[in-house]
Amino acid sequence: MNEKSKDFKNLKFFIHTFGCQMNNNDSEHIAGILNSHGANPSDSLEESDLIVINTCAVREKSEDKLYSLLGRLNALRKKKGKNFTIGVVGCVAQLHRSKLLEKMPHIDFILGPDNYWQIPEIIPNLLEEKIISTEWSKDWHEIPAAQTLRSSKVSAFVTIMEGCNNFCAYCIVPYTRGREKCRPAPQILSEILELAHNGYKEIQLLGQNVNSYIDPNSKMGFMELLREVNAIEGIDWIRFITSHPKNFSTDIATAMKKSEKVCHQLHLPVQSGSTSVLHRMNRGYSREEYLKTIKNLRRLMPDISLSTDIIVGFPGESDKEFQETMSLLEEVRYTNIFSFRYSPRPLTKAEKNKSDVPLAVKKARLMAVQNLQKNIQIETNQTLVGRTIKVLCTGKSKKNQDIYSGRNEGYRVINFSSEKEVVDQFVDVRITSYGPYSLRGHTL
Ligand code: SAH
Ligand code: SF4
Ligand code: F3S
Repeated sequence: MNEKSKDFKNLKFFIHTFGCQMNNNDSEHIAGILNSHGANPSDSLEESDLIVINTCAVREKSEDKLYSLLGRLNALRKKKGKNFTIGVVGCVAQLHRSKLLEKMPHIDFILGPDNYWQIPEIIPNLLEEKIISTEWSKDWHEIPAAQTLRSSKVSAFVTIMEGCNNFCAYCIVPYTRGREKCRPAPQILSEILELAHNGYKEIQLLGQNVNSYIDPNSKMGFMELLREVNAIEGIDWIRFITSHPKNFSTDIATAMKKSEKVCHQLHLPVQSGSTSVLHRMNRGYSREEYLKTIKNLRRLMPDISLSTDIIVGFPGESDKEFQETMSLLEEVRYTNIFSFRYSPRPLTKAEKNKSDVPLAVKKARLMAVQNLQKNIQIETNQTLVGRTIKVLCTGKSKKNQDIYSGRNEGYRVINFSSEKEVVDQFVDVRITSYGPYSLRGHTL
């Protein structure tokens, strides 16, 4: 334990984030809390006094990444005599708690997703003891907006609810994030007002299941919240993630259409195209119901851009059932998909099911899904060449500093050249070429 760590003022910290947008937003809160107490962010893991690892437990692979990073840190400490504090926070921390410390005794503190606000109390006490805090609270714990160190100056995540009551048979999230709890609407709205005031243009409302949002006091629902956010001056684009198909009503689609700042873009995870698999997954909708929702969305917003999540090789998935996922992809023609091999997770219902699909079959199915989707994306991206598209530029390409990068309303990645400096601005880009996963062009 580093003597310096007692004193926030001299502390340099580094946060490594795995997992979803909510984890990214949580890391921005953690950075903000530390910063507001005088500590400073560092770009270098090796030169930091405090290393916080924000973890994801959704698949075994995500958990494994934590163990390999912890192994590296241990080696740094032992071989190079580096003196830093290691905190493991987030979903793996919540899942394994003290067992994690038994396995990896070089961790100094463990905090669950509901306990970040305790960081200022914890750090000064670490010299005396290791700390584990993973208690859930039923109530929302507000972290002041001023204590958020955001990575973007134009696009902001705003968490509106956390946790999940759905218990899909494969999913660990209800055990790591707890039951659903919603953030009071006045706090959400005042954070967005402040963001608009500070020049933010895009807001992404976050929650494991945003459609079931309900204000704990006023009982305002998701649609009303969307209308209120839409009325905030200065914001141009509003998005939300994640929606659950079983809660995605025509009313929400209509509210999307009527709120002119809400992007015609939706992530609607289907997981499988087979009604029998969906039933075993406990998803609460059939293939036909899902397709009806898509049809309805396209009737209301013909230009809507859709994305989804797919799991292949769920226990017992037959070849026929898998082919139904393939045909659903062909029918919907998503802009983008996230596809995964089923990974058995502790505590979940599906983990007890031993009719696991062989690894080789899972791999072949994943490849088939990804190849099919790649071809669909090539076909649709091709049709955009020659068009002029409004892009919110969020930075420069990692590979080439002369190329800017951003997304359009449909959340497509667009890389482009520009004579002027355009980071953090809206620009019109003429599309000149395409690949399966991005478009390329130049500013007008
Ligand atoms: N709340 C969101 C996100 C959940 S996690 C939702 O309901 O969609 C993100 C994605 O990870 C899921 O949509 C699912 O496709 C995938 N996933 C979750 N558990 C998994 C598991 N055990 N194996 C493989 N993929 C999984
Ligand atoms: Fe997991 Fe299902 Fe909840 Fe999404 S809705 S977080 S997949 S349990
Ligand atoms: Fe992973 Fe937790 Fe998000 S398990 S996907 S970091 S909610």
